[in-house]
Amino acid sequence: MDLLIPDKVHDETRQGEALILEPVGKTNGRKLYIESYGCAMNFSDSEIVASILAEKGFETTSDFNSADVVFINTCSIRENAEVRVRNRLKEFAGAKFRNPGMVVGVLGCMAERLKAKFLEEEKLVDVVVGPDAYRDLPNLIEQVDGGQRAVNVLLSREETYADISPVRLNSNGINAFVSIMRGCDNMCSFCVVPFTRGRERSRDAHSVVAECKDLFDKGYREVTLLGQNVDSYKWSGQLAEGVEPLAVGDEITVVNFANLLEMVALVSPELRVRFSTSHPKDITDEVLHTIAKYENICNYIHLPVQSGNSRILDIMNRTYDREWYMNRIDAIRRIIPDCAVSTDVITGFCTETDEEHNDTVTMMDYVKYDFAYMFKYSERPGTLAAKRYADDIPEDVKQRRLAQIVAKQQEYSFYRMQARIGKVEKVLIEGFSKKSDKDYCGRSDQNAMVIFPVSENYKPGQYVNVLVERTTSATLIGTIVE
Ligand code: 5AD
Ligand code: SF4
Repeated sequence: MDLLIPDKVHDETRQGEALILEPVGKTNGRKLYIESYGCAMNFSDSEIVASILAEKGFETTSDFNSADVVFINTCSIRENAEVRVRNRLKEFAGAKFRNPGMVVGVLGCMAERLKAKFLEEEKLVDVVVGPDAYRDLPNLIEQVDGGQRAVNVLLSREETYADISPVRLNSNGINAFVSIMRGCDNMCSFCVVPFTRGRERSRDAHSVVAECKDLFDKGYREVTLLGQNVDSYKWSGQLAEGVEPLAVGDEITVVNFANLLEMVALVSPELRVRFSTSHPKDITDEVLHTIAKYENICNYIHLPVQSGNSRILDIMNRTYDREWYMNRIDAIRRIIPDCAVSTDVITGFCTETDEEHNDTVTMMDYVKYDFAYMFKYSERPGTLAAKRYADDIPEDVKQRRLAQIVAKQQEYSFYRMQARIGKVEKVLIEGFSKKSDKDYCGRSDQNAMVIFPVSENYKPGQYVNVLVERTTSATLIGTIVE
């Protein structure tokens, strides 16, 4: 089984969550049910889909049995993600049997990967829509109403949905995801994303800043800038006031990720800025210096290593080697001494030997990650690895290697937590803790979950200083200090 440590970007507890919006203006009397799987980008896309359909008068419902349109926003990253969606579709079959007028649609990465094949394989599916075609949904639903089945899986070089401000009503009103780019141009050999999400494109920097400002004005206090590879963000246009242009004396210039981070950080010192995901080949010292310069850019970097062995990294087509990755870690430690680092690891990639796997283990010893998402390699049809290399590591070996790194990571997560005891953490209060309404919970700058007794002087959305007194393996526990 894959191990997922709870985190906001790949949040296991949100898988399959239904999105609910308040009705905006006129309704058309039809109800939309939409649930999402996969990464934060997918959850953010579902908000875009719901916003597009809310404009057309659809109301959302949390009960698929009473819905007129049922959408499932899918993930293809590993085989088990797809199996989960297939099983869920079986559950929708009963509802459709009782209500034959119901429109069932598959959105997202699996729709893009399987295209019209989905209609053959899953008889109850009426609409198949890829991640770049959501503006076409009202038309596609009309086609289905007219008795046809509909597919739009065109990928785009331009679509960023920049002008659609997603409505976020099932959020806590404090943290929000803001997508800054779409697609991916890195051809990691194991990965299906370049095929399902298309070419990389960056969103207008001003629309990103405007969305963050608007969120701040509505009371939000934390934004997470999202992209498959945020460090390669690049947009040509005019820089906001207070942001130094790259080319001196030139107002029209290229906004890179460091510039964008700075522009968002300048929205307000009270707005925390997070981002995901960084790529070891692209994360520059300039980005690290920008993080260090602004107190409100959080000291937390998700830097997927995938493997600690240079030969495996080469056949994964990651375009860096072990030394390069270690150099980036050294730069993080030098420029942002108190920075938490998390990672993604794949065990049992094609041809990986025990010695090569051991390089991943020693990389974990070197970095002592705060968190890690660890996966067994899962061959995805159409990827470079599927074409070039045999998936030749037996299941039990993959499992043994995974168990070894999971155990190792548990030690290091605990070590990182323990190191915070006696320290004062600045925490953004997110709400009551899951277990008790006598406690608040929130995150530290380094993204650790912190639990502490409620104080009447503070409300969710405010910052407090918490003295850490003890920890579990995933949570810091303490009390407010003034
Ligand atoms: N098999 C296993 N894990 C994968 N990932 C991506 N593709 C695969 C695959 N085919 C993991 C990588 C990536 C994370 C989002 O999912 O570690 O960083
Ligand atoms: Fe997100 Fe990748 Fe899954 Fe698509 S395949 S939903 S991009 S994690």
